[in-house]
Amino acid sequence: MPPKLLISIGRQGAKVQNGTNDQGAPDAANFDLANAEDASAQIARLRSIVAAANIAYHQNDAPDLSDAEYDALKRRLIALEARYPELASAASPTAQVGAAPNDGFGKITHAVAMLSLENAFAAEDVTDFEARIRSFLSFGGDLAFTAEPKIDGLSLSLRYENRRLVSAATRGDGAVGENVTANVAHIADIPQILPAQAPDLVELRGEVYMSHADFAALNARQAQAGEKTFANPRNAAAGSLRQLDASITAARPLRFFAYAWGALSAPLAGTQSGAIEKLAEFGFVTNALTKICHSPDDLLAHYAQIEMQRADLGYDIDGVVYKVNDLSLQARLGFRATTPRWAIAHKFPAELAWTHLLAIDIQVGRTGALSPVARLAPVTVGGVVVSNATLHNEDYIAGRSSRGEPIRDGRDLRVGDWVQVYRAGDVIPKINDVDLPRRPADAMPYQFPETCPECGSPAHREAGDSVRRCTGGLICPAQAVERLKHFVARGAFDIEGLGAKQIEMFFHDPLLSIKTPADIFTLAQRDAASPLQKLKNREGFGETSTAKLFAAIDARRAIGLDRLIFALGIRHAGEVAGSLLAYHYGTWPALMTALDAIPADPELRAGNAEWAELTAIDGVGAVLANSLLDTFQNPTERAAIDALIVHLHIQPPPARQTDGSPVAGKTVVFTGTLEKLSRAEAKAQAERLGAKVAGSVSAKTDILVAGPGAGSKLKDAEKHGVQVLDEDAWIALIAPKTTLP
Ligand code: IVH
Repeated sequence: MPPKLLISIGRQGAKVQNGTNDQGAPDAANFDLANAEDASAQIARLRSIVAAANIAYHQNDAPDLSDAEYDALKRRLIALEARYPELASAASPTAQVGAAPNDGFGKITHAVAMLSLENAFAAEDVTDFEARIRSFLSFGGDLAFTAEPKIDGLSLSLRYENRRLVSAATRGDGAVGENVTANVAHIADIPQILPAQAPDLVELRGEVYMSHADFAALNARQAQAGEKTFANPRNAAAGSLRQLDASITAARPLRFFAYAWGALSAPLAGTQSGAIEKLAEFGFVTNALTKICHSPDDLLAHYAQIEMQRADLGYDIDGVVYKVNDLSLQARLGFRATTPRWAIAHKFPAELAWTHLLAIDIQVGRTGALSPVARLAPVTVGGVVVSNATLHNEDYIAGRSSRGEPIRDGRDLRVGDWVQVYRAGDVIPKINDVDLPRRPADAMPYQFPETCPECGSPAHREAGDSVRRCTGGLICPAQAVERLKHFVARGAFDIEGLGAKQIEMFFHDPLLSIKTPADIFTLAQRDAASPLQKLKNREGFGETSTAKLFAAIDARRAIGLDRLIFALGIRHAGEVAGSLLAYHYGTWPALMTALDAIPADPELRAGNAEWAELTAIDGVGAVLANSLLDTFQNPTERAAIDALIVHLHIQPPPARQTDGSPVAGKTVVFTGTLEKLSRAEAKAQAERLGAKVAGSVSAKTDILVAGPGAGSKLKDAEKHGVQVLDEDAWIALIAPKTTLP
């Protein structure tokens, strides 16, 4: 029997029935002639898979297969066609020009990570942004910003060494992108050579996009040639750049705006605007609508100006980006986990459309949250077909905010209603409004379930929480399976061959079941011990894919502490928290010892030293700390975690780039009033230099930085013989490091 599973092709959910592997993607190993159907049927199936993958890659820019999987399938098809020449066909994807055999894109590690931007939607988000910066910097003087269009394309990093373009990479996951060097060779806006005054190393960032006119002409050509057209210029640009066959990219009219940089061997200028001028001198195209502004009002006025010109620009923009102009202030402000503190993207209002609310479904998430989802009659909103939207929570459906105030003037949402859908950028579509005159007479108010639709456990709402949660914990199959999916996801254990689809399959498998993370690491052993029903004999698996899966699982027994914490799927403990906790505690036993020393009764935590240490970690706080303790002090949860840990070799987090830092590894406490630095900046700076910032003084403290008004901490420092510095002495101590970019 050939394997029979589904793979979905493209964004709109067109489905093709095909052989698939454990990732839901076709697997060349499944097409073994020895145990499969006849060559003609196999060739036909492979052709349809490869053709569908080509569409996903070349036209939708939504590849469903990894490059390696695609290559393996295509090689298999070529081999079969060579063996059975009588079955050759001009319609085969192997016979088509432009789909040349390839090894997929290579990977490029960005010298400086490509980050994203925080979003602002309302005017007050912009005033808050400015106020936060002033407070972080303790800065009352003239604070200038650049304001420039946010181009709706895809970001690209160009590396110039000795003024020659040596590589080009997409953003990828921010750390590693795809090598598209060959593809950018024909983009006229991208210089191959920089002039003599450019630094030896320039890592240049900007946006690849397609103009409206070029997009329309390309779609007309595609339609005439019987090829699929693109939904919008962004898709067209992404699909055109990410072509495995660079000659296709060459024929596509791509453009490029330069707006930022990564690594540089020498600074370009002292200001953002000066640096952008330099980039223009180097031959890059920079955006003419970039303006220097001196206040939130100035920024908002320029935003309004750009919004008015939006329709006439000839290319898509989706907002305005504000950046602190002074680069030394940018350096002081630094970065959060994934976004700079010195920039924000002020997005344009979302796109709207009316459609029919067909049903309301409840999804149960990893943390037990019952999330209502609107099933909609498909409608195009801003170039994308939308058929699902979030309904947030029960209050939102009922027409009130979580504080009990009316939203939509109190109008509730009912199945059968006409609703207004909106989406902004890539965020999940939402329901904005309801058309009451069009409500069917028999439409009933929606009853939000009070028990979990998956496990029947009571679903509770805690005071102050807008979300109703299933109380079933690990006994709820939906929570258990969602936690497992999170456990194997990217950023967590990221096990190749074990994705969401395989987790669903194993979760329900009676013989090789995976119910908790520990079961993943006993899978190979249980498979070996099982006389029947071995994995390699199952549909969708073979000898090779099984061996590969077990090897991939083994490879993840060594795991970073930060990833492990994140992978546990604890509420509020995301990647940033994983990293903060890993850096603070260093090892798993240290983290466990600290958590175990905190009383289970929240009333008794206040005076506990470990609790004080945990909640003093910048970015942790009481909400996350309580959530960690809820998990680690719950016997069922703890047993599942302990059962997992025995299978792992937990690695400490990688050393921070703090070579030569005078405070690396030291524990620092700040107290009293700081006059030159805000508390937030002082903390961020100390942590950047490898210090641990604590909230209270103990024998473990190395330095107390005491400003005027310091009280009991100063006394504690004297008691423990801790070095005490005033603010100036602290600044002098760390000075050599803070001037580094
Ligand atoms: S600055 C540290 N400037 O927006 C981040 N980004 O939502 C530096 N984008 O990934 C980015 N126009 O792809 C910047 N004028 C502009 C931009 C811009 C578009 C994109 C960029 C970024 C994304 C973040």
